[in-house]
Amino acid sequence: LFGLPEQPAHERVLLAADPATGLKAIVALHSTARGPAFGGCRLWHYDSDAAALNDALRLSQGMSLKNALADLPFGGGKAVILKPPGAFDRPALFAAFGRAVQSLGGAYITAEDVGTTTADMRGLQAVTPFVSGIPRDGAFGGDPSPKTAWGVFVAIQAGARLVLGRTSLEGVRVALQGLGAVGWHLAEFLHAAGAKLVVADVDAAKVERAVAQFGAVAVGVADILAAEVDVLAPCALGASLNEQTVPTLRAKLIAGAANNQLATPADGDALQRRGICYLPDYLVNAGGIISVAREYRGEGEEAAVMAEVSRIAERVEELLLRVQAADSTPARVADDWARSKLVHQP
Ligand code: NAI
Repeated sequence: LFGLPEQPAHERVLLAADPATGLKAIVALHSTARGPAFGGCRLWHYDSDAAALNDALRLSQGMSLKNALADLPFGGGKAVILKPPGAFDRPALFAAFGRAVQSLGGAYITAEDVGTTTADMRGLQAVTPFVSGIPRDGAFGGDPSPKTAWGVFVAIQAGARLVLGRTSLEGVRVALQGLGAVGWHLAEFLHAAGAKLVVADVDAAKVERAVAQFGAVAVGVADILAAEVDVLAPCALGASLNEQTVPTLRAKLIAGAANNQLATPADGDALQRRGICYLPDYLVNAGGIISVAREYRGEGEEAAVMAEVSRIAERVEELLLRVQAADSTPARVADDWARSKLVHQP
C-alpha cells in the first residue's frame, strides 16, 4: 500500500463497517496538503474488497490532482460504499456512512459520485456538515453533473480548435460512451453546438432517447470506442483506454468525464504514439468539484461558477503548450503540473 510506483502513498485510509446497516465503506485521503480532502462518494457493487480499495485509492489520488489543477483550496479524497447484497435500508446506510465521515472531523468532505444522489447527500447533512452537492434554499448548490458536462464541453471545444483545427463544433463527430448524468448534459451541449453524435449506453432507453432527441447514431457498447469519429468522450466508468482498446480507436481527440480513463500510464504513451491527443480526465472533468467546492464554501453563484468552470478551456490550452515545450504526453505533463501544486497553501 505504501508508495508503489503506480500508487503513491495515501495519507490516511478509513475502513468503516456497521453491521446494523450493512455498511462497508472505504474513505481514502490521498493528500490534504492543499486543504481538507474533497471528493465524491461512490456506491457500487465490487467483486472483492480489494477491488473496492483499489478504486478508492486510484480515485482519491485523481482528486488530489484534479483539485490542485483547478486551483481549489482542497486536497484529494474519495469514498466508496460497497453496495450491500440484496435489499437494504438506504437512509440508514447513508446515516452510518455520514457518521464515518463525521469521525474524520472535517479532514474529508463528501459529495455525489456514481451511484449516489442529491437525496443521499441531503440525508448525510443530518449527520455531518462535511458534505456538499445539496440543493439549497436561496443559495447556490445541488447536482454537480451539469457543471461537469459544461467543463467537458469547453475542453472539447478547445481541443477541437487546437488539435483538429476546427473553429466550431458544427459537423464535428463525437462518440459518447455513457449517457448518464454527465453524458446526457454533454450530449445536449454538443447537439446545440451542431456536433454529430454517436452514442452507446448499457441502458437502451437512454440510447433511444438520444436518437429521438439529438438525431444521434446508436452503436453497441462494444463498438463505441472504435467509432469513426473526430472526438471520443468516455463518460461511463474508468479504464476504458487500455491495451485492448487503444489500438482500435479512430478518434483524434479524447476528452470525457469518466475518472481514471487510462488503465495504466503506458496507455497514455500508446495514445500519443498513435497520434491521438488525450486530454487528461481530471483536468477536463473538474466542473463538478468546482461546483461543490464553491457551494461548500458558501460562495457560489451560478454565473460565477460557470465562468470558473469555463476556465478549463484555458487550462487545456496551457497544457497543450506545455506538452509542446516538454516533448512529452498530455497525461505525463498534466501529472507533473498537478503534482507541482500539491503543496501546503499559505
Ligand atoms: P452515471 O452513473 O449517471 O452515468 C454513467 C452512465 O454510463 C450510465 O448511463 C450507465 O448506464 C453507462 N454505462 C455504464 N457502463 C457502460 C458501458 N460499458 N458502455 C456504455 N455506457 C455505460 O454517472 P455520471 O455521474 O454521469 O458520471 C460518469 C463518469 O464521470 C463517472 O466515471 C464519474 O466518476 C465521472 N465524473 C462524474 C462527475 C459528476 O459530476 N457526476 C464529476 C466528475 C467525474
